[in-house]
Amino acid sequence: MKIIIISNRLPVKIVEENNELKLIKSEGGLATGLGSLETKREKHWLGWSGMHITDEGQKADINKQMEELKFHPVYLTPNQIKNYYEGYSNSTIWPLCHYFYSYIGSNNNYWESYKEVNALFCEAALKIIEPGDIVWVQDYQLMLLPAMIREKVKDVSIGYFHHIPFPSYEMFRVLPERAEILRGLLGADLVAFHTYDYMRHFISTVYRVLGYECILDEVQLEDRIVEVDAFPMGINYDLFHDAILRPEVQEKAMELKEGFGDNKIILSVDRLDYSKGILMRLKGFIKFLKHNPEYHGKVSLVMIVVPSRDTVGTYAKLRTRINEFIGGINGKYSTLSWTPVYYFYRAFSFEELTAMYYLADIALVTPLRDGMNLVAKEYIAAKRDKPGVLILSEMAGAVIELSDSIVVNPNNSKEIEDAIVKALEMPEKEQLENLKKLQEIVSTQTVKQWATDFITELKSIKELNNQRFAK
Ligand code: G6P
Repeated sequence: MKIIIISNRLPVKIVEENNELKLIKSEGGLATGLGSLETKREKHWLGWSGMHITDEGQKADINKQMEELKFHPVYLTPNQIKNYYEGYSNSTIWPLCHYFYSYIGSNNNYWESYKEVNALFCEAALKIIEPGDIVWVQDYQLMLLPAMIREKVKDVSIGYFHHIPFPSYEMFRVLPERAEILRGLLGADLVAFHTYDYMRHFISTVYRVLGYECILDEVQLEDRIVEVDAFPMGINYDLFHDAILRPEVQEKAMELKEGFGDNKIILSVDRLDYSKGILMRLKGFIKFLKHNPEYHGKVSLVMIVVPSRDTVGTYAKLRTRINEFIGGINGKYSTLSWTPVYYFYRAFSFEELTAMYYLADIALVTPLRDGMNLVAKEYIAAKRDKPGVLILSEMAGAVIELSDSIVVNPNNSKEIEDAIVKALEMPEKEQLENLKKLQEIVSTQTVKQWATDFITELKSIKELNNQRFAK
């Protein structure tokens, strides 16, 4: 018996080296969580290869490398990438779930392609699913998949985890395909979210759109119940906590320290995304500079923006706006010896990132909406016993657990400004006390715990359904 993870992307990157395609495993949170899951079952992973390969020889070669890792690639055509990935997933569902109503784009091909690709994933999954397997579907790109699989295989446990916010009924109801999506999700035995709020939104939406009876966290279907629950995802705490003990991270930290000098460092790290509140954060920083001239020459904002979805129009526009904003700030305030904003538009290696976390005096994490936000947790873990302050948006799922940070409304640039001043002036003793409380939480609710809790609950639902609906 197996556990099969199904996600839009496989946790690998295909790179070309000397005319040959090679796989590089990317150790994201989910891959780590799954890797550390203690189970006798074989672990398989099915997902998009992330690359359009036309050469059949190269494809066969990649497939062989994938097979060794128990990865099962799904190949998408350029049209499917455009309409399913960039289109319905990232131009319709993503803005909808993040409450960016005016960013929702639609096109007749989007929904058709979304259905087609979910069916393609189903077809690929059916080739490997055997009776008794556990199938764990991840995220908003594959919301039709649970019901598609259930229709074809009966003796299988299906779980679904929604990594982004689930919006309130008032938002979700605008979606023309709302009923189909909900029916797709209810094909699972367990539908789970990061927070209790998202879970509540989902239950009320199911009731109001489909009229299904919901008793507490159970949706009652004719022949089974679907459990709805909240599992806050965590990180591999030890990996981040112990990073600075590695010589290569120490070396990076020394290099960076030399570059930034005695400046206090405010750090922000995000994927390029309008949901991350990057422009509002910059507005808060501008206000801080304007009203606190005593800090000029002493504080810099280090902004790391990881390129993402830049073929989607709203993302490309955001990139231009960020460039303009930062150009404006640095043009106005820079001196020969001080740069107010250091901007990096690229991914950082693990060594660079953890060295930055360790050095940063403040982490400024202010998404306008975020399912969870693991950067906040990584910063807390990586600080070890070095003082530091987390400023965290009240719109990030992580705030439920990390309320001992300085919590701000990310739409209020004055609050961001005040929070920066408060963090800069916070006595070290208080910083360390807060960090300790936060570290206790982040080190307990790890990604391993998250995956274990999810799978344990999924198994128990199957037993419950068997007992309740035994013929
Ligand atoms: C978010 C989503 C994930 C997605 C990731 C990267 O965290 O919840 O499902 O994989 O962003 O986005 P991308 O579009 O590059 O896969």
